Amino acid sequence: MSESRQSIHGEWSGRLAFILAATGSAVGLGNIWKFPYITGENGGGAFVLVYLLCVAAIGIPIMVAEIMLGRRGRSTPVNTMTRLAAEAGGSSAWKWLGWMGMLAGFLILSFYSVIGGWALAYVPALGSGAFAGQDAAFVGDQFASLLGSPLTLLAWHTLFMVLTMAVVARGVRGGLEKAVYVLMPGLFVLMLILVGYAMSMGHFARAVEFLFTPDFSKITGTGILIAMGHSFFTLSLGMGAIMIYGSYLPKRVSIARTTFIIAIADTTVALLAGLAIFPIVFSNGLEPGAGPGLVFETLPLAFAHMPGGTIVGTLFFVLLVFAAWTSSISLIEPAVTWLVEKRGMTRIKACLFLGMSAWLLGVGTVLSFNEWSEIKLFGKTFFDSLDFLTTNILLPLGGLLIAIFAGWVLPRQICRDELEMKEQLGFRIWLFLIRYVTPVAIFCVFLNVVGLI
Ligand code: PHE
Repeated sequence: MSESRQSIHGEWSGRLAFILAATGSAVGLGNIWKFPYITGENGGGAFVLVYLLCVAAIGIPIMVAEIMLGRRGRSTPVNTMTRLAAEAGGSSAWKWLGWMGMLAGFLILSFYSVIGGWALAYVPALGSGAFAGQDAAFVGDQFASLLGSPLTLLAWHTLFMVLTMAVVARGVRGGLEKAVYVLMPGLFVLMLILVGYAMSMGHFARAVEFLFTPDFSKITGTGILIAMGHSFFTLSLGMGAIMIYGSYLPKRVSIARTTFIIAIADTTVALLAGLAIFPIVFSNGLEPGAGPGLVFETLPLAFAHMPGGTIVGTLFFVLLVFAAWTSSISLIEPAVTWLVEKRGMTRIKACLFLGMSAWLLGVGTVLSFNEWSEIKLFGKTFFDSLDFLTTNILLPLGGLLIAIFAGWVLPRQICRDELEMKEQLGFRIWLFLIRYVTPVAIFCVFLNVVGLI
């Protein structure tokens, strides 16, 4: 039956298009903005090690499962889960997994767009040459004055949201497939240039040590939760983005092989970002735990001093914007397709409605960096709370449910069919990970955080 199933929203032109779109979704602010700063805040090497373990043992099996469910269901995540639950004889309550994912994507987009706006703001700031030759204090002041101005932040947030919705409204295949093709390799090359520059700064060895020498005394239960949450965030897992992209995937593309490529590309970009940023942190006496501003206070400093820095810097932020853009569109795709399928809205109307709502919620994040910076819930600002709730709770919970569904509810035969695998070793390893390792690991981390173990 599923052989003839097609998504009403279209299909990727082929394997490469899917790899690029899914990599575009995965590689984003999470790799370049978030990974370095949460690594800095959580003590470095031990955190990186836990993160890498999570990508390998939890992220990769779940990505395989999510693509598999998407391609089998060929629909928006809520309908995919309803269909597959019926096919497997499971409860119709599984559709709530789709709902939770849509909510998580919507909430993440609201703050993602604000940070995407920071990246946008840095394009003209670097392009004007204002940073050339400046020191750490100047770069820090620039960033502080951006954050201190709600109206400026709001303007950039608006522009980023408009850009996102403009692409989603057109359907993903049109411009995006082609754009990622050039932009992703471009970003990769620029990251290498930055790492090359960082190597010449004299503190490269210290940065390598910071990133790769685990000091387990620095890791806490919350640190482990953050590393695990980040492995979901960075791979775009647990909320239906990869599921919906999988629903556009043609038959006969190997899901397992494709997943490895995406995960390796994503992890490489994050590690390169760390290797570019920490030498600059150490050689300028900056704080590794400086928080969300870390990237915006370190990289412009490198651009200020390297030959051709104005051009390289401008280009870098352009590419960062593109990386964020190709991620943000996938955050809202599940909700857009739901409105189209269930409510019969046009894509354009669905985008307008969701874009405006997410924009409005984003105002809370804008204000949390200035007017509301003192307003805290459990010691967290509005932005921190949203980030924590989505990344560390909703995404891992979504991942846990995906693992349980794929491993225990969906008949093994369907998994084998969809993954085009026989009972070979690879399949058995995947099944073992998805049935036992992944759910138990996520569950234990949750228990640990609430203090039960
Ligand atoms: N993976 C994206 C990043 O690292 C963020 C994202 C999360 C996108 C979840 C889609 C879904 O920036």
